[in-house]
Amino acid sequence: MRIERPKEIERFGAIRFGELQRIFELDSGPGNGDSPVVNSAIMQVGSQALAEVQKDMAIIVPVRNERLKLVEGVLCGIPHPCLIIVVSNSPRDPVDRFGMEQDALQEFCTFTGKQAVILHQKDPIIARALAKVGYRSVLGEGRQVRDGKAEGMLLGTLLARLAGKKYVGFVDADNYFPGAVEEYVRVYSAVFATCESPYTMVRIAWHSKPKIVESKLFFRKWGRTTTRTNEFLNRLLAHYTGYDTDIIKTANAGEHAMTMELAMALDYSSGYSIEPYHIINLIEQFGGIHESEALRQLQHRIEVYQVESRNPHLHEAGDDSHIDDMSYQAMQVIYHSSVCPDRLRKDLHRVMVSNEYCTPHAKPRRPRYFPPLQTLDFNKFSAAIADHPQAKLILGGNL
Ligand code: GDP
Ligand code: CO
Repeated sequence: MRIERPKEIERFGAIRFGELQRIFELDSGPGNGDSPVVNSAIMQVGSQALAEVQKDMAIIVPVRNERLKLVEGVLCGIPHPCLIIVVSNSPRDPVDRFGMEQDALQEFCTFTGKQAVILHQKDPIIARALAKVGYRSVLGEGRQVRDGKAEGMLLGTLLARLAGKKYVGFVDADNYFPGAVEEYVRVYSAVFATCESPYTMVRIAWHSKPKIVESKLFFRKWGRTTTRTNEFLNRLLAHYTGYDTDIIKTANAGEHAMTMELAMALDYSSGYSIEPYHIINLIEQFGGIHESEALRQLQHRIEVYQVESRNPHLHEAGDDSHIDDMSYQAMQVIYHSSVCPDRLRKDLHRVMVSNEYCTPHAKPRRPRYFPPLQTLDFNKFSAAIADHPQAKLILGGNL
């Protein structure tokens, strides 16, 4: 894979936000064995170097009630060396959708000679283990893990950590193009093969989302939610630096990956607010705006890469209420951050009121927050899931 280097970098406390990078070649050949070539203009990572990273990477697929054919396509796009972890919140009755997903994954594993993990978000053994180690904020009614995409991602990340992986990447289960999924994972791998810090995040900006407009295909670049959330985050950065910026292009990037060190250090927030919150929480912890123990202890800088995919992104279209939901959740999480400047908070409120997300005299609801996973006692957690049917797979180190 051959990707341009970020031309501009916005430094913010210990964080380096890289400008959007283009891809020149999806496959740049075998390259130099497993050593990538990096110069000021490009990074070139050969196939062997990509595979080396992928052996240490878990790809987490959050699923809720997606069409099985779509999920199968996504599985087929994930490069072979990666560990697949499916976290499903699909219903089990009246039709056992989760059972169907398990069957499909089993069949996939048989044909590909792989082992993969599939877990239900409401799995009682996992919930009990979380309660045992005191990680209760993620548990809701009936002591089950709460609904939500972030909640599923969090479980997946935890399993990836237990399986000893060094990197975690996320891909949505509703992608129509397996080739796009493959591209995202290749991008994650190329960045991890060349990054300098153990605290690195890579976020995908979709090249375009195809839509049919007047019976022709139209490749729309920026969606409404993304544009708005990017703008709010950029305004937040500009407030502190005193310079206008448009560096953030991936505020709502569902497709992203992190080194395990970073994934363990971040706080999480619920549902769809998680993606913008990654950026907000980085600034809260490592931006140097407030006193922070995390920043004092940090020995490295934090690198954030943003890469524009070449494949168009086609997924299950959400209706307007879904889009409103995502927009609202993104705005809530920015609004309630301690690093949100007053003026931005006022503007956020105005936009939320005009969209009827909240009333003029009420504050928007606070999202739910979950503490960093590194606070967990992993040995205790492992012991608590020892009788889980997938425990051998996860803890046995044979993945
Ligand atoms: P969008 O693509 O950002 O509009 O959001 P989607 O509704 O497509 O959700 C993104 C991914 O998260 C999809 O793969 C969903 O199936 C999955 N997802 C949504 N809600 C949940 C949930 O509560 N739990 C889990 N595990 N996955 C979810
Ligand atoms: Co989607």
